[in-house]
Amino acid sequence: MRTEQPKVIYLKDYQAPEYLIDETNLTFELYEDHSLVHAQLVIRRNPERAAGDSGAGLPPLVLDGQQLELLSLAMDDRVLGEGDYQLDDSHLTLQPVSSQFTLDSTVRIHPESNTALEGLYKSGTMFCTQCEAEGFRKITYYLDRPDVMSTFTTTITAEQHRYPVLLSNGNPMASGAEEGGRHWATWQDPFKKPAYLFALVAGDLWCVEDTFTTMNQREVALRIYVEPENIDKVQHAMDSLKKSMRWDEEVYGREYDLDIFMIVAVNDFNMGAMENKGLNIFNSSCVLAKAETATDAAHQRVEAVVAHEYFHNWSGNRVTCRDWFQLSLKEGFTVFRDAEFSADMNSRTVKRIEDVAFLRTNQFAEDAGPMAHPVRPDSFMEISNFYTLTVYEKGAEVVRMIHTLLGAEGFRKGTDLYFERHDGQAVTCDDFVKAMEDANGVELTQFKRWYSQSGTPRLQVEESYDAQAKTYSLTFRQSCPATPGQKEKAPFVIPLALGLLDGKGNELPLRLQGEGAAQGVGRVLALTEAEQCFTFVDIPERPLPSLLRGFSAPVKLSFPYSRDQLMFLMQHDSDGFNRWEAGQQLSVQVLQELIAQHQKGEPLVLDSRLVKAFDTLLGDESLDQAMVAEMLSLPSEAYLTEISEVADVEAIHAAREFARVTIGEALYQPLLARYRANRALSRETGYIAEAAHIARRTLQNIALSYLMQSGKAEALEACLEQFNDCDNMTERLSALAVLVNSAFEQAKADALQRFAEYFKDDPLVMDQWFSVQAGCGLPGGLERVQELMKHPAFTLKNPNKVRALIGAFANQNLVNFHRADGAGYRFLADHVIALNALNPQIASRQLTPLTRWRKYDTSRQQLMKAELERILASGELSSDVYEIVSKSLA
Ligand code: PHE
Ligand code: ZN
Repeated sequence: MRTEQPKVIYLKDYQAPEYLIDETNLTFELYEDHSLVHAQLVIRRNPERAAGDSGAGLPPLVLDGQQLELLSLAMDDRVLGEGDYQLDDSHLTLQPVSSQFTLDSTVRIHPESNTALEGLYKSGTMFCTQCEAEGFRKITYYLDRPDVMSTFTTTITAEQHRYPVLLSNGNPMASGAEEGGRHWATWQDPFKKPAYLFALVAGDLWCVEDTFTTMNQREVALRIYVEPENIDKVQHAMDSLKKSMRWDEEVYGREYDLDIFMIVAVNDFNMGAMENKGLNIFNSSCVLAKAETATDAAHQRVEAVVAHEYFHNWSGNRVTCRDWFQLSLKEGFTVFRDAEFSADMNSRTVKRIEDVAFLRTNQFAEDAGPMAHPVRPDSFMEISNFYTLTVYEKGAEVVRMIHTLLGAEGFRKGTDLYFERHDGQAVTCDDFVKAMEDANGVELTQFKRWYSQSGTPRLQVEESYDAQAKTYSLTFRQSCPATPGQKEKAPFVIPLALGLLDGKGNELPLRLQGEGAAQGVGRVLALTEAEQCFTFVDIPERPLPSLLRGFSAPVKLSFPYSRDQLMFLMQHDSDGFNRWEAGQQLSVQVLQELIAQHQKGEPLVLDSRLVKAFDTLLGDESLDQAMVAEMLSLPSEAYLTEISEVADVEAIHAAREFARVTIGEALYQPLLARYRANRALSRETGYIAEAAHIARRTLQNIALSYLMQSGKAEALEACLEQFNDCDNMTERLSALAVLVNSAFEQAKADALQRFAEYFKDDPLVMDQWFSVQAGCGLPGGLERVQELMKHPAFTLKNPNKVRALIGAFANQNLVNFHRADGAGYRFLADHVIALNALNPQIASRQLTPLTRWRKYDTSRQQLMKAELERILASGELSSDVYEIVSKSLA
């Protein structure tokens, strides 16, 4: 907590550390009312910084440390007294007398009262750690920066009975009993690592064990630790882990390096999961899954997060970041890796659709708001605020573009060189790009603007066809709006994947003016100029372009398609992603027309072409059901908000609801037929967590939600049958969600009550129960959420609960959150203020919806800003909350 303004830290000020730590020996004594940490650090002067040392003497050693009570300190066995060092609230400064020495310290800390969930803390009865980014300094005095890499030996002592399992990074070395009912264990991690990858766990845990044989025939022990009641929910994560290990060998040639790999599930966790070396710590929501309690989406999330953290072993741990400005070096790359893994394990097109929809709705909004920053930021106040959609998701798009430009083989050459060249080092985004350049003999200088320039580029496309000359030209104009600190932008390199369709929907061979022969159908153009024209020759008829296939660059593309052209692309484009995209654009056009009608007070009339397009989709049995489900899903209110100049909350909600009702009524029969067929299959096969079955259930549940729009008793009956008689959470939760959003008050109340009664002891299921209600757009949403905050299963201390209720309300229930009197904003601000004192990271993340105030009408803008001001004036703010609030008001 702080009263003065936090300092801004700049990338341009980076300097290598004055000292290095070669060895770190830690001993933890864990007790119920405090813990002791003994650290023995083998330190030496960094030779890189030692050039002019002799005359001037050695520089002071400045160690990071926060909320530590220093009990003893010794340098090379000389006990240091108060005159020998300086302490402030975040540093310990002392004067070394030789360029190599050992420092011994003992501190007292209080994990039992650590509600920020950073450093060493307790989740329920277990001890665990979270050190990224700067949490290790809450454990002991240290050089807590990623370019200081050390080997770690860790001994943990604790009461045997309460904490039978004692874990840390690396390999188990020894263990034993102590008197007084205590025991100890020592772990050693031979790989040098920064402190942010340190981890420790102590608890009463059970584990599921397995083994993995690596490509070089080494056997690795795999263990997933959970609280005993969750032992039946671990198999899916274990399967996912083994698939990830194999995939990283096959696709990247990366082998696991320790003899043991462990995952621990904890209930109280700020993020999704953490890649600590050999000991990943997971939010239980990202590990635990079984059919009865976790949806298909939750199963897929577990698979993706397990893979993500496992992949970090190479992209993050073996090769790590020099400083936190380089965060995307590991995160962008690893998100790209996990996305490709998921694409290989499931449907590639559907995965891409989901990721692009997410990026365009959320990252584009970030890029358009006060927190816009480059993939490699230039400055920050609080690094925890930069675990953003830009660093992660846009960073992954940047890596994907390199992959697109170099091709799969060239990209692999680049990653091979990167891992070989930098193994054991802490490096920069420039080093990553350099490896790509050197391995492929290419230059990516201009491309690197994607790392330094913030904002979402606009790409306007114009066409012209010359029937006489049989040439077709596309003119591309790129621009990028100003973002905080960046008025002007230079042109980006935009890989533009495209194809041209003839009147029958066939792909035309592509030959650019000047080329000898056609280079096949479909290709990637590299746009590099603010304005650029490409002319294709031998084009016998006016073609229809399919642009930005697979979303080949994170830009806002505009091309003046007519609705009929979009319907044509929906049916004929050979690129599955662009078939979906055409449908989305058609829906957007139709919904925007409804929004305009609503604003003018006119009756709403839905363009029947949308209904017809959906009818065609439903009628085509040959289509992939997952694709049909994606295509039947209308763009979300959040996306419609993002693409609006000024978002009209009520009009957007009314338009989308009207479209849903109209479609549900017009297509009632084909929807019912699909629903019945798919539900019958669900009953027949029981739950199977495979792609084809997931697709079938997704379509079944979309159909059900449209059917319920009709308000027919027959639909209610189907919904209740599914709710009552299914064997899995995917069907049960979908049925519950549509009931909650319906007007069947009695059935809704009964279902909610029975669900809660049955699952009251399963916190992850109760999170879903909270979320479904928090997201309900019917009037009275805020009051319902306020009532739910009093539910015994709710607590502000658990981040998953905060996200499930407050987060779901503010992010997924736009019409209620943005109610005109500002009560939704007041509610959010009240809880941000309360959370600021408990858990600054969670407080700051919940603020996001208020940072978007520029999107709304002036009255809402005033109300939102007033709440931001109130937070600012509320007392001592954490650097986390201060940074977001002050930048939002700037
Ligand atoms: N590094 C984690 C990841 O895999 C995220 C994380 C950041 C977790 C900070 C906890 C704290 O993306
Ligand atoms: Zn990560």
